[in-house]
Amino acid sequence: MIMKDKIERANILLEAFPYIKRFSGKTIVIKYGGSIMIDDELKVKFAQDIALLKYIGLNPVIVHGGGKEVSKWMEKLGKKATFIEGLRVTDGETLEITEMVLVGKVNSEIVSMINHQGGKAVGLSGKDGSLFTAKRIRSKKNQDLGFVGDIQNVDESLLNTVSEQGYIPVISSIGQSKERESLNMNADHVAEAIAIALKATKLIFLTDVQGLKIEKKLQSKLHLKEAKDFLNHDDVQGGMLPKLTCATKAIENGVEHVHIINGTIPHAVLLELFTDTGIGTMIEP
Ligand SMILES: Nc1ncnc2c1ncn2[C@@H]1O[C@H](COP(=O)(O)OP(=O)(O)OP(=O)(O)O)[C@@H](O)[C@H]1O
Ligand SMILES: [Mg+2]
Repeated sequence: MIMKDKIERANILLEAFPYIKRFSGKTIVIKYGGSIMIDDELKVKFAQDIALLKYIGLNPVIVHGGGKEVSKWMEKLGKKATFIEGLRVTDGETLEITEMVLVGKVNSEIVSMINHQGGKAVGLSGKDGSLFTAKRIRSKKNQDLGFVGDIQNVDESLLNTVSEQGYIPVISSIGQSKERESLNMNADHVAEAIAIALKATKLIFLTDVQGLKIEKKLQSKLHLKEAKDFLNHDDVQGGMLPKLTCATKAIENGVEHVHIINGTIPHAVLLELFTDTGIGTMIEP
């Protein structure tokens, strides 16, 4: 390696230094979108990033989706997925499929990948240690969504114990009501509630688009008020609707920054956290 390249490498490490100092000991909640669980190489890079974050002293907490995978298995079983306001309409059978796919397959795959990269990940759903309880919700227009819930209460004690012991919690969006009914939740909502409960410094949504786009233009930095105004914009549709709603709620409840970033960029998490040029959409108070 020639001298110039060596210096460049050292500079890259130095660029990260102030960020490592700033985020050391801080909780960063990362919503790993189902939309980007497409490519094995990308999954490995995500797992490397997370293992590294923990090793250098941050507390990453992962909440994952898995929408595409759930829809794929529904199709295999002859069921068609339908959505209202970005939320999956969930009948009894859909709930069973969702729980099997998210807890049994997607969660366990993420856990094993992070462990393979040298991290110590542990898989949890809302049911484990009663991490969160949920209650049934209906759509804004009062339509029945079936077994779809929203988080009522988070008991963060298990997460704190797990994190303090050096483990990385990986959480799926299946919860349970007080009546012991299983409920499917939008993972963005779970990520937001967990971030608030843990007083996270950052909440990062990794998804399959550059960030929030309004009139085809990427919104790179938004204050809370602007983000809230966009909630009623016609361009905010489908999966972006819960994401932006949750982003604003998180900021209103003390999370310092929320990022919606393109998780199809290799090492998106490291780039976001440790370089001077952030990527995607950043929302702040
Ligand atoms: N204004 C907007 N700007 C950007 N993306 C938008 C907008 N409105 C709707 N979207 C859609 O939101 C999608 C992202 O949400 P989606 O729920 O599909 O993914 P995810 O949340 O990452 O995955 P999962 O729900 O499986 O966890 C984008 O692919 C895009 O099509
Ligand atoms: Mg989504």
